[in-house]
Amino acid sequence: MGETLRWGILGTGMIAAKVAPCIRQAAGCSLTCVASRDGDRARAFASSLGLPASAACDAEALLARSDVDAVYVTVPNSLHTPWSVRLLEAGKHVICEKPLTPRAEEARAVGAAAAKAGRVFAEGFMYLHHPQTDLLVRAGREGEPGLIGRVRTVVASFCIDLRPRPNAWTRFSHRLEGGAMLDLGCYPLSLARTVLGEEPVHLGATAREAAPQPGESRGVDALTSFSARFKSEAVLHALCAIDANAGVFAELVGETGVLRTETPFRADPVRAELRLTRFENHPRGAGVETIVIENGGDRFVNQFGAFARAVRERRAMTPTPDWSVGQAAAIETITGMTGCGW
Ligand SMILES: NC(=O)c1ccc[n+]([C@@H]2O[C@H](COP(=O)([O-])OP(=O)(O)OC[C@H]3O[C@@H](n4cnc5c(N)ncnc54)[C@H](OP(=O)(O)O)[C@@H]3O)[C@@H](O)[C@H]2O)c1
Repeated sequence: MGETLRWGILGTGMIAAKVAPCIRQAAGCSLTCVASRDGDRARAFASSLGLPASAACDAEALLARSDVDAVYVTVPNSLHTPWSVRLLEAGKHVICEKPLTPRAEEARAVGAAAAKAGRVFAEGFMYLHHPQTDLLVRAGREGEPGLIGRVRTVVASFCIDLRPRPNAWTRFSHRLEGGAMLDLGCYPLSLARTVLGEEPVHLGATAREAAPQPGESRGVDALTSFSARFKSEAVLHALCAIDANAGVFAELVGETGVLRTETPFRADPVRAELRLTRFENHPRGAGVETIVIENGGDRFVNQFGAFARAVRERRAMTPTPDWSVGQAAAIETITGMTGCGW
């Protein structure tokens, strides 16, 4: 690696197009290659980004590109682990889009591949790289004075009707490991684990199953409702859906108040707002106030900048591969309980 971390993107879909400019804006990063299963698609994507045709390549050829230090993996969920392992073995650093996998064993294999290759791996939970999340972590894990006291409950919802979107079929494909829990439920789960800084000791879940996609024998979970009890006795109560606009928010309920955001996973880069509701036992008395976080930056730009720093300084990136093992283990249990797993 020279002065900048040179990125390749694997996949040319929706998130690849959205995040490519963010990679270019991120400190210490450049974009040198885009890779697809289809050469024409790779060239068209390169051209749309103003990259030369030589920047486009076949997905297989990406493994051997000497002008690529790190790869952003944006293929469907079922391909996350195999591609992450192959890229790490080929000497690339990797950010793989969430969810890495619904199987703890596979997450362990990715961590082992990263350790063996001496490369940095991170699951792409971009919202972890925004000061709004830092505030929630200080409130939850560290009990930031003047906020909400010790956190007892996390309530979170991530429900969006994805059916009108052009790429919706991948989210409803059981074969490609779509479904509400993997696509959206992984966020509330990740938030609670991060904010509380501990693992669930008990999980509960129920789901509504979608009709199978043409050519598939099983349907994904269109909606999953799940709960987790953590070591500290704090509880997560969460809902996720891919066929209903049933709300997006997160609330930390503490002993002296509630901290709530309507944008837990997509905080505004310029002005993010949280609402603090103070109980009567709060040090400042009962009331409601708005907490504003100005210029927190774009979460994707922040994520890629942090990753380049981690590579340069040879230190761990957030989230770590071990964190992803805990995430996968909880998802494995939840999807096992709902009967919508693999
Ligand atoms: N962090 C976020 O905010 C966020 C947002 C959206 C999505 N995501 C994650 O990003 C990943 C991709 O999502 P997306 O919305 O970009 O999906 P998408 O539009 O369907 O794109 C996925 C791309 O993967 C490639 N691909 C390789 N093998 C494939 C296969 N067998 N079937 C279909 N496509 C295949 C395709 O590119 P080629 O045809 O060029 O190979 C396709 O364009 C998912 O894991 C999703 O969970 C994250």
